[in-house]
Amino acid sequence: MPSVPTLEDLPPLAGRRVLLRADFNVPLRDGEIVDDLRIRAALPTISWLVDQGARVVAATHLGRPKGMPDPRYSVAPVRARLAELAPGVELAENLRYDPGEEADDPAFVARLVEGFDAYVNDAFGASHRAHASIVGPPRTLPSAAGRLLAREVEVLLGLRNDPRRPFVAILGGSKVSDKLKVIEALLDVADRLLIGGGMCFTFLAAQGSPVGESLCEVDMVDRCRALLDEHGDRLVLPSDVTGLGPGGRLMRPEAGGDVRQLGTSIPAGWTGVDIGPGTAAEFGDHVAEARTVFWNGPMGVFEDPRFEAGTRAVAQAVADTRAFTVVGGGDSAAALAQFGLGGEVDHVSTGGGASLELLEQGDLPGLEALRHAPNAAGDDDDKDDDG
Ligand code: 3PG
Ligand code: MG
Repeated sequence: MPSVPTLEDLPPLAGRRVLLRADFNVPLRDGEIVDDLRIRAALPTISWLVDQGARVVAATHLGRPKGMPDPRYSVAPVRARLAELAPGVELAENLRYDPGEEADDPAFVARLVEGFDAYVNDAFGASHRAHASIVGPPRTLPSAAGRLLAREVEVLLGLRNDPRRPFVAILGGSKVSDKLKVIEALLDVADRLLIGGGMCFTFLAAQGSPVGESLCEVDMVDRCRALLDEHGDRLVLPSDVTGLGPGGRLMRPEAGGDVRQLGTSIPAGWTGVDIGPGTAAEFGDHVAEARTVFWNGPMGVFEDPRFEAGTRAVAQAVADTRAFTVVGGGDSAAALAQFGLGGEVDHVSTGGGASLELLEQGDLPGLEALRHAPNAAGDDDDKDDDG
């Protein structure tokens, strides 16, 4: 397989115009940036380009506008922050204002690359999308992976291909159906896979436990049962959960409803909303014994202080261990930040879907496109392909 060109594989850039695809899809609240990690993460690439004398124009998507301008998704707040962090770097308007972006429309690609001499993809978080700005420019422009994209790939493929053992993976989040493929991929490589979050209830149901009103994907129960039958020794489910009683509302403590520690048998009318303290301690022990840890997805509804304990315990265990630690996904990164532990992890991935897809597939459309750029090294194995 040809390799992905890096910044050093670009032609001389002095006085040249470089199109930088970044993932500045940052969380916004009332028009303010809540977390600028994705902007700061692109700065090493930007400074390298600027040091070479390049003129840099960055482009990003923001949110999911439906192929037309929508002021709710204006990149203006991002442009303002970028101007503070990297003066002189321009930012184009939201790529998804044009339907050609998601459609990878050749006419849109032609407009994107017009006037540019080179292309750099540092948008790891969007490189699982075969969109125009990700896969289009490398068809014609000399292209490279930026520092962030290269580092993300190195770390995540390292987990997939050669983790130091024991390798413990922790998955949370609400839906099994979203995570099924990554669960299967992680079961191929991890020594233990710990399951929390809303999706644990579908597994508990598969194990025969009543789950009350908890999230449960009925059509996934058979699939979960098959995974438990095949990998039961390595799949670790909660042994207790925290439940919210009848009448209770998430984020609304004033609405009432008891909060109680339950085993794994959840009574009718009750909703499991976090892993319990016993499970939090067990998960912490697994993390403490690991030499590599990957964590994606909260253990419970951590935005509600009544149900943050499980996620906090896992975040603390991940922060405390001397293992190599990787956290992927916006929710887990937000949880780390909420608990003040963001700095205690070896690698916080800027990609949610992209990090899971890279773990699943070992490749991404954005990487494949870069491998075929005009400046990419030829495929040394070509001569063997037919033989
Ligand atoms: C993300 O935030 O996950 C990336 O920016 C990709 O965004 P998307 O899921 O809207 O394609
Ligand atoms: Mg996403």
